Amino acid sequence: MRIKCCFHHVVMAGGKMVPDHERQKVIMCRNLSKYALIFLFLALSGLIFLLRNIQSVENWNCHTISALYQLQSRIQSSVIPVGLPTYYHNRTFCSHLGQKPSPEDELEERYLLDSIAWPEPTLQSTSVSMRQSSDPVHSLFAILPSKGRREWHVGDQLEVLVQMHDFQGRPKRYGGDFLLARLHSPDRGAGVAGTVQDHKNGFYSALFPLLWTGSAQVEITLVHSSEAVAVLRRLREERPDRVFFKSLFRLGFLSETTVCNMCLPPDQQPLCNYTDLYTGEPWYCYKPKMLSCETRINHAKGGYLKHLLTNKEALLFQSGVNIKVHIHASGPDRINVLPPTKDKTEVDGGTIKPESFKIEASGYYYRDSWRPLDGVKMRQFNESSAVTQCLRNKVIYMYGDSTVRQWFEYLITFVPELKEFNLHSPKNVGPFMAVDSTHNILVKYRCHGPPIRFTTVTSSELRYISNELDGLAGGPNTVVVLSIWAHFSTFPVEVYIRRLRHIRRAVLRLLDRAPGTLVVLRSANLQALDQEVSLYNSDWYSLQLDAVLRAMFKGLNVLLVDAWQMTVAHHLPHALHPPPIIVKNMINMLLSYVCPEKKKTQHT
Ligand SMILES: *[C@@H]1O[C@H](CO)[C@@H](O)[C@H](O)[C@H]1NC(C)=O
Ligand SMILES: *[C@@H]1O[C@H](CO)[C@@H](O)[C@H](O)[C@H]1NC(C)=O
Ligand SMILES: *[C@@H]1O[C@H](CO)[C@@H](O)[C@H](O)[C@H]1NC(C)=O
Repeated sequence: MRIKCCFHHVVMAGGKMVPDHERQKVIMCRNLSKYALIFLFLALSGLIFLLRNIQSVENWNCHTISALYQLQSRIQSSVIPVGLPTYYHNRTFCSHLGQKPSPEDELEERYLLDSIAWPEPTLQSTSVSMRQSSDPVHSLFAILPSKGRREWHVGDQLEVLVQMHDFQGRPKRYGGDFLLARLHSPDRGAGVAGTVQDHKNGFYSALFPLLWTGSAQVEITLVHSSEAVAVLRRLREERPDRVFFKSLFRLGFLSETTVCNMCLPPDQQPLCNYTDLYTGEPWYCYKPKMLSCETRINHAKGGYLKHLLTNKEALLFQSGVNIKVHIHASGPDRINVLPPTKDKTEVDGGTIKPESFKIEASGYYYRDSWRPLDGVKMRQFNESSAVTQCLRNKVIYMYGDSTVRQWFEYLITFVPELKEFNLHSPKNVGPFMAVDSTHNILVKYRCHGPPIRFTTVTSSELRYISNELDGLAGGPNTVVVLSIWAHFSTFPVEVYIRRLRHIRRAVLRLLDRAPGTLVVLRSANLQALDQEVSLYNSDWYSLQLDAVLRAMFKGLNVLLVDAWQMTVAHHLPHALHPPPIIVKNMINMLLSYVCPEKKKTQHT
């Protein structure tokens, strides 16, 4: 116990043990206390209680006699101190806190960053006026003829050319616009995502595989202009503080709340260092004034910084003007797709072999059901008994953000026998657990570690996915589902790469010690965007993170549920938590991985 303040001296003042150099302080304390006698009396009675509870209150001294006052005002308070830290606005500050990557890791990081490089506008975004930025209303697309003819068959590829213009109607001369492309047939509940190629001169190509017959309509959406993307990129590198976090510290009835983040400027106030010992993942909070770092009780989203944009920049983010607005066709926007010509191989009554396409659609909707193109046969789990049958004797661990918590919620709603076990966890935070003891099924959900943006996670429940994976026995009856993306969009990509590197190592260790463990990744998905959401959670950030995720797990024995394309291809509005019909398709995909259709015996 290191209490060395006035109270100590006040208590000792009558005794002979006060050294000369300390006497000065005692007198000062007494003088001060004169002005606050009544208050001190009240405070002392509180202090007696306090002294019985406190194990370590550091650095209490006479200079902070006013601490007594602070003490009273802070008791049971959880008010965030005003004045958030200022940051070094340079790109590497955040990512370089934490362990230095090995040379191989650094090489991979450079490769990954190169692979997601996005064309930059030739001019600085600060100097571009909205009038010179991409305008979806002035921009146009055209369906290009196929081999010189306006005739398309299932198995062909449809090509669409997009030309971007600015708000003055002048053609754009550089690339970098973020476009989404979709081909769909509403009457068939059919849709597929197109691949967009940036020609970096104001022209873009959108390529679609033709997978069903009948009328099909092209939809091209400008998500953000290249000028807006430049602003998003600047925010990502320079303002990792635009979402901030907080932690409550408590001991006895003394409590304080301080600001936390992946990186905090170290020279402003003392820090508590919560860097994870196993992974080296950095996390810091400002040290509470009265309490020690060990008294951290919880972790929570603090809030979102405002006023991140100049007035000029704000014009680049206007709902209905240049955020997620459709681009019109100069001519027809739809084609009629004829049945496949004879030279095309037909498989499974209409599904074409994916090899026949150079482009990257991973699947498509038909009658609102997702049909993967990677050779996996999608099974329908329309009855809860089919789900139960599939999951019998399995343990399913779900780790990540709320987009996989949504899967947990879907399962316990859809399968009545899967009963949620009440762990008394906070709503929407978890951890959660559901059990069907008859069929020996266990489903668990746990959120990922910081920077999780949930309301309040108890410190003891704040875990990194890689450490959790290291604690799993694994095996053929274990399914691990991971979804980690949405809470990383405010940080430089290096932060996400580092996190996935740790998770990937843990996945490989798990697969090595327990072959047969099924690991499924859920990719990022599109969400509803307005100006505010764009600055923290734009689909552009998600797209970049998602590309990193796919690249880092490529070639490994893990499976992907392509939430990205499942939301691009669907007609329902984009939502961070996709609507039930899309979740149903995701779950059917997951279950098709867990319980693949029994191979039919080959014959003839
Ligand atoms: C970022 O800022 C910090 C603090 O001023 C400085 O030490 C560091 O060198 C800077 N990094 C770059 C890349 O400018
Ligand atoms: C925080 O702790 C980690 C691990 O002990 C250490 O590597 C890192 O340098 C510390 N950070 C600061 C700012 O002291
Ligand atoms: C499951 O439901 C879908 C959509 O309602 C339907 O198309 C499909 O035929 C059903 N499958 C089974 C096996 O019942």
